[in-house]
Amino acid sequence: MTIQKQVSLQKYNTFAIDAIASHFVEVTTVEELQSILSDDTYNRMPKLILGGGSNLLFTQNFDGLVIKIAILGQEIISEDAQHALIKVGAGVNWHQLVLHTLDLGLGGLENLSLIPGTVGAAPMQNIGAYGVEIKDTFVELQAVEISTGKVATFDNTSCEFGYRYSVFKDALKDRYIIVNVTFKLLKSPVFNITYGAIEDTLKASGIRDLSLKAVSDAVIRIRQSKLPDPAKIGNAGSFFKNPTVDRPIFDGLKVRYADMPGYELPDGQVKVPAGWLIEKSGWKGKRVGNVGVHELQALVLVNYGHAVGNEVRELAFAIQASVMDKFGIALMPEVNMV
Ligand code: EPU
Repeated sequence: MTIQKQVSLQKYNTFAIDAIASHFVEVTTVEELQSILSDDTYNRMPKLILGGGSNLLFTQNFDGLVIKIAILGQEIISEDAQHALIKVGAGVNWHQLVLHTLDLGLGGLENLSLIPGTVGAAPMQNIGAYGVEIKDTFVELQAVEISTGKVATFDNTSCEFGYRYSVFKDALKDRYIIVNVTFKLLKSPVFNITYGAIEDTLKASGIRDLSLKAVSDAVIRIRQSKLPDPAKIGNAGSFFKNPTVDRPIFDGLKVRYADMPGYELPDGQVKVPAGWLIEKSGWKGKRVGNVGVHELQALVLVNYGHAVGNEVRELAFAIQASVMDKFGIALMPEVNMV
């Protein structure tokens, strides 16, 4: 484990922003992490914990210690006739884990195929796609407390999962570093293909017998058809969260915008796709200098190369202002800005 100085973070964030970290270290074990946290030179420095850097926008250089979590490993820790519990290191690439569970014939993660990032970052914002969220299979995680170096365990309830939300985004923000996550997966999968596009994609490919691989392949095809590949064009997936509005406000907007989509939530509020609001505000496919709004999914902001983080942030501000102006709805970023 070596601490490097003045390290470019470009290859460590999917937006490919060339920010510089004054100090950078990659840790491969919990013990390495604990020793860094207890080191007199480093324990008072500002710290940034990095997984896959896929939900992050650097708007300036980072004067402090960036800790890249590279703790690997995955093992089945218990099983019964129906389930297997798999414990996975925080540094494992998310999609590689999904592929591994498919190989093992275990169901539960197939709808979450091809999501960029690492396993340790996944519970932070309860990643979700195509009708499934990580909380559906999550059992517990272990995390190191930054101030003490002690390992604590958080179960599903204590993570307080919500839409793109966990306790680590709020009350426990910047207090813990997730080091492993345990999932409960099914030996006889229950397929979740109700999310429209999956069923249509399976039909279009002529799939009659459902399998984990078939569902995963369909999800991969859908994602590839509208989300830009970060290896080719810098982006962090959805830049904003889908906002929720009170029913009367939604009904009022619907009078003016009859085609406005909305999904009723259990609490009576209505979730509106941010992509639709951004598209209707005229931003889809627009380019401003080095940055722009993806032409196939307006929720994704892209770096056409050489952008600095502030250009992306300025674009995000302009989009927020347009959507507020036209619909009176506030868009909140999903991406963490540093
Ligand atoms: N839409 C538009 N124009 C657009 C994009 C979307 O009108 O440019 C409207 C359409 O009505 C469409 C609806 O939005 O039917 C929903 O679009 P989509 O299915 O692409 O989903 P989303 O709500 O835009 C969310 C997640 C994605 C996830 C998909 C699929 C958020 C912030 N985003 O997007 O997550 O892959 O659902 O489940 O909740 C991510 O978090 O990085 C991400 C990609």
